[in-house]
Amino acid sequence: MKEQLAKIRAEALEALERTSLPAELDELRVRYLGKKGELTAVLKQMGSLSAEERPQMGALVNEVKASLESAIEAQAQRLESTAMEARLKLEAVDVTIPGKVHKQGHKHPMYIALDEIKEIFIGMGFTVLDGPEIELGELNFDRLNAEEGHPSRDWSDTFYFDTDEKVMLRSQTSPMQVRAMDSMELPIRIIAPGRVYRKDEVDATHSPMFHQVEGMVIDKNVTMADLKGTLNLLAEKLFGVGTVTRFRPHHFPFTEPSCEMDVQCHKCGGVGCPTCKGEGWIELLGAGMIHPRVLEMAGIDPNKWSGWAFGMGLERTAMRRFKIADLRLIFENDVRFLEQF
Ligand code: DAH
Repeated sequence: MKEQLAKIRAEALEALERTSLPAELDELRVRYLGKKGELTAVLKQMGSLSAEERPQMGALVNEVKASLESAIEAQAQRLESTAMEARLKLEAVDVTIPGKVHKQGHKHPMYIALDEIKEIFIGMGFTVLDGPEIELGELNFDRLNAEEGHPSRDWSDTFYFDTDEKVMLRSQTSPMQVRAMDSMELPIRIIAPGRVYRKDEVDATHSPMFHQVEGMVIDKNVTMADLKGTLNLLAEKLFGVGTVTRFRPHHFPFTEPSCEMDVQCHKCGGVGCPTCKGEGWIELLGAGMIHPRVLEMAGIDPNKWSGWAFGMGLERTAMRRFKIADLRLIFENDVRFLEQF
């Protein structure tokens, strides 16, 4: 029996050496130490021993059992730390590997200019509105006092969705004036930037889609002086102190009186050059005092309230803001151009 025990111990220890998985350890534990294990089998033979031999053998079996238990325990710990090391190795981060450079984009210069415009108007208490590019002809024209037969309603100018001219791509941001009047409490101070669409604007320097910023104030005792003061302040904040502007009389169906505002050309300083088409001035916006009929159609009493409005070309404003010479650069999205801002 002694030899038997020695053999069991040697075999078990050798098998233990070869284990690499926790499950294998469990198997060995069952095989050698379990109820039906090899040591139990030896114990069962003890009945055949003499009374003197029995305690000696018992002690020996216990010793073998204890040594196998501690050997299994030690191997379990070894396997665990090997597994941990392997995992750490796998998850290791090599901080010496050069990083991957992710190029970050940035805002288009026109939208940088728009952000500045928004800041300026928000600072003066205006709310920024967003509105639909697919618009009702009623809001784009009728409610703005552009009667039937007005040239801007022409099919050659306007993208209609249907033959009865009910739905269209807005040709101006001005319908946002109507949407504001219909939905907001007086007094109103809003700007509404966005895309507009016109068929007639297709050639090398024009796009069928461009951007406008609409602005509108309705309050008590609002005058043309407020309009000029506000728009001059906008020009100074956007283009710099001392920016020269001029207001020319003009006609729009929804304002009376109406005007256009120009800023002096940044390229030539007013002398005339290709950028300003020889004019010395760059036309920036149309504006005027809101026509009493437009107020009335929105249910606003023109004897109590008055207002002014403007519609600004955003591409041109951005050109002036960043001293860009050619409008096409705004649309081409040439990275060499965009990177400069
Ligand atoms: N909607 C006009 C256009 O697209 C610009 C304009 C002129 C807007 C006068 C206004 C305004 O609000 O008062 O040409």
